[in-house]
Amino acid sequence: MKLDLDFIRSQYPVFKNPETTRWAMFENAGGSYVPSQVADRLLNFFQFTKVQPYGPFEASIAAGEAMDEGYQAIAGLLGCDADELTLGPSTSMNTYVLAQAARPTLKPGDEIVVTNQDHEANIGCWRRLTETGAIIKEWRIDPQTGELSITDLKALLSDKTRLVCFTLCSNIVGTINDFKTICKMAHAVGALAIGDGVSFAPHQALDVNASGLDIYLFSTYKTFGPHLGIMWAKPAVLDTLEPQGHYFNRELPHYNFNPAGPLHAEIAATAGIGAYIDAVYDHHFTDEEPNLHTRAKAVFDLFSQHETHHANRILDAIRAIPGSRIIGQNHAETGSRAATIAFTVNGMTAQNVVDRLVQKEIAVRNGDFYAVRCLEGLGIKDIEDGIIRISLVHYNSEQDVNRLVEGLGALPATR
Ligand SMILES: Cc1ncc(COP(=O)(O)O)c(C=O)c1O
Repeated sequence: MKLDLDFIRSQYPVFKNPETTRWAMFENAGGSYVPSQVADRLLNFFQFTKVQPYGPFEASIAAGEAMDEGYQAIAGLLGCDADELTLGPSTSMNTYVLAQAARPTLKPGDEIVVTNQDHEANIGCWRRLTETGAIIKEWRIDPQTGELSITDLKALLSDKTRLVCFTLCSNIVGTINDFKTICKMAHAVGALAIGDGVSFAPHQALDVNASGLDIYLFSTYKTFGPHLGIMWAKPAVLDTLEPQGHYFNRELPHYNFNPAGPLHAEIAATAGIGAYIDAVYDHHFTDEEPNLHTRAKAVFDLFSQHETHHANRILDAIRAIPGSRIIGQNHAETGSRAATIAFTVNGMTAQNVVDRLVQKEIAVRNGDFYAVRCLEGLGIKDIEDGIIRISLVHYNSEQDVNRLVEGLGALPATR
């Protein structure tokens, strides 16, 4: 079975607007488009229920119910209980708060493993915990491939390791890290495994309870939803952390690790992600399937198949550019490489490449994408110019990819 792209694109208001459809959108890892199921809920909340939720009057009751639907949808997608979720303003804020919550659990000499592959959101907040006397151990990428080796991790772990903080998929390298093995290794020394799924979640449906992770984070604004950061944590792990919300809200599970307070309309709009997955499932499958996570799994399998096919067309086109360097694997296999593709071209600045593609209404960007340590580890000299990143998701069409491949093919001739 193949993904019905006409159906998929019909769900997105952006593809109905002649101005926006001119663009072939390949900056999805920066922020994805939203389907009408999400946009409608956001608008509806602002138009009709924009009041303090969970009160006694009609609009307030409706607002609370809409938010509850949001929590339930995310829980359904991840296969967890809604009480295990924190819906904060962003993943950077969630990791920051999490690090504060973990601070009292650490003592001098405890060790924290961080990578240099991650986005800074899952590095800097942990590095700051050296103030407690904790020691940072850096799990470094291979300077050529950008990949992390499990053997290197083994050498960093000890009975002093308390936290292993890593990414399921880097926003630069694109390799899906072997997170189940990493979690097992962390647990074998008594450490917690904290996984950043921001660049993973748009491509695969994770069953958090089967993942091995203790804490999983991702951002809905890159996963077809509103601007929020989602944090799931095992209840037993949450109990060991110091709540960071108001003391009188301790009994409210969504508030303990979100001192910013819930963003009402955005939380309500996340229900639209679940509704979108439902619509895609119902369009492609006839089997009755009541479980949202199982439906999401089937839908994301279709997404991955589509993305992998097109990722390989793009990787082939980049390989054909003289002087190109692809970061990470130069061939995509479903489950081992996300369609987030970073590269450089010898003799051209990244900005120059991007300018040429943007002139052709192909939306891409260059820079460090807040993964400065990763770029340094890869030996990229000019970090500000950085790398060129092309990131596709399931709604990218054959025509989008044709235009991109053509644009990439024209690069050396126009240098
Ligand atoms: C892999 C990865 N992790 C974390 C983040 C930070 O997410 P947020 O913008 O929600 O703080 C990003 C954002 O680009 C990212 O790509």
